[in-house]
Amino acid sequence: MPALARAAAALVRPSLRLTARPAGCTRRHCLSTVAQHHPHIQEVLLPKQAIEARVNELGRQIAADYADKRPVVIGTLKGAVVFMADLVRAMEPPPPGLELEFVRASSYGAATVSSGKVDLSMVGPTDIKGRHVLLVEDIVDSGCTAVALLEHFATAGAASVKLVSLLSKPERRTVTCEPHYLGFPVEDKFVVGYGLDYAEQYRSLPYIGVLKPECYA
Ligand code: IMP
Ligand code: MG
Repeated sequence: MPALARAAAALVRPSLRLTARPAGCTRRHCLSTVAQHHPHIQEVLLPKQAIEARVNELGRQIAADYADKRPVVIGTLKGAVVFMADLVRAMEPPPPGLELEFVRASSYGAATVSSGKVDLSMVGPTDIKGRHVLLVEDIVDSGCTAVALLEHFATAGAASVKLVSLLSKPERRTVTCEPHYLGFPVEDKFVVGYGLDYAEQYRSLPYIGVLKPECYA
């Protein structure tokens, strides 16, 4: 290839040429995969634009419902952080008196199936007695985490308790739990991105994708 053509090719596709190829990928497959999404992602279920559009709709609906309620929006760490950050900024007009809090909830560890036992701890000394609580979840799977949290806030004297979840896997429920506000129902596949992780990885991906099974087998 002449020197000028080589220089032009380097300018047009620098990232593709520098990306390492994951084991098992052909060069052709690897280049197209890496150009579109992370090499551990089998399929992009929800692209960035679809998430953004739905989060904006949810934000406007919630803002209208909570316009006079001084809501306490409580996100579950760490999975709901990305969704919550976008959701509260989509609440237009912003509900007066809105506060943000976080709760730590874990039932998975480094596994893809919930243990069923939920450990909860509030981050900070929040008195939610008499407050309108909106719990923000990344995904409702078995439903155990959301139910444990909703019961905890109700018992603590909240005036109302509602759940907004970005995703829901209805087929996987072991307890009754329907989010009051839902981004998207999804099929029974392990998904990551937009805050959701596997073993603390993939949270920063801007889309929701199905993780390749060989990445957690
Ligand atoms: P549940 O208690 O079984 O409903 O599980 C809820 C929590 O499990 C979520 O907040 C996530 O942290 C995690 N989880 C459930 N399904 C997935 C998934 O497909 N990808 C990543 N995390 C998940
Ligand atoms: Mg998680």
